[in-house]
Amino acid sequence: MSLKRMVPWVAGLCLVSAGYADDQDKGDVTKGKEAFQTRCLMCHFEDKADKKIGPGMAGIKDGKLPSGKEATLANILENMNKGGNGMPAFEQMLSEEEKINIAAYVLSL
Ligand code: HEC
Repeated sequence: MSLKRMVPWVAGLCLVSAGYADDQDKGDVTKGKEAFQTRCLMCHFEDKADKKIGPGMAGIKDGKLPSGKEATLANILENMNKGGNGMPAFEQMLSEEEKINIAAYVLSL
C-alpha cells in the first residue's frame, strides 16, 4: 500500500480508538440515562431534588451529592456498589460499564 493511501486509513483508526477510549473513561450518558430510568428512577427523581424514596438527583452537576459529599465518579460508583440506608447494593447487579454510564448520567443532572 502506498503511503498516500494509508494516511486516511490510519487517521480513521485513530479516531475510532480515541472514541472508544473516551467512552471507557467517561461513560455514555445516553445509555446511562436509559439504565437510570429502569434501575434508579423508581427511587430517585432525575429532574428535581425532591425526595422520592431516596433523594432527587437534580443539581448534582453543581458539584455535591445530596449527602454533601463531592460529586465525583468514584463517590457515585461507591454509593452504587454499596447502597445502604434503603438503597440496594448494585455491585453484582450491574456491569462495570453500566455503572460508569449511569454515574456519567447522574453527574450531568
Ligand atoms: C429502592 C430505592 C432505591 C433505588 C432503586 C436506588 N436508590 Fe439511590 N438511594 C436510595 C436511598 C433511600 C438513598 C439515601 C441513602 C442515605 O440517606 O444514606 C439513596 C441515595 C443515593 C445517592 C446519594 C448519595 C449521597 O452521597 O448523597 C445517589 C447518588 C444514588 N442513591 C444513586 C442511585 C443510582 C445511580 C441508582 C440506580 C443504579 C439508585 N440510586 C437506585 C434509594 C434507592
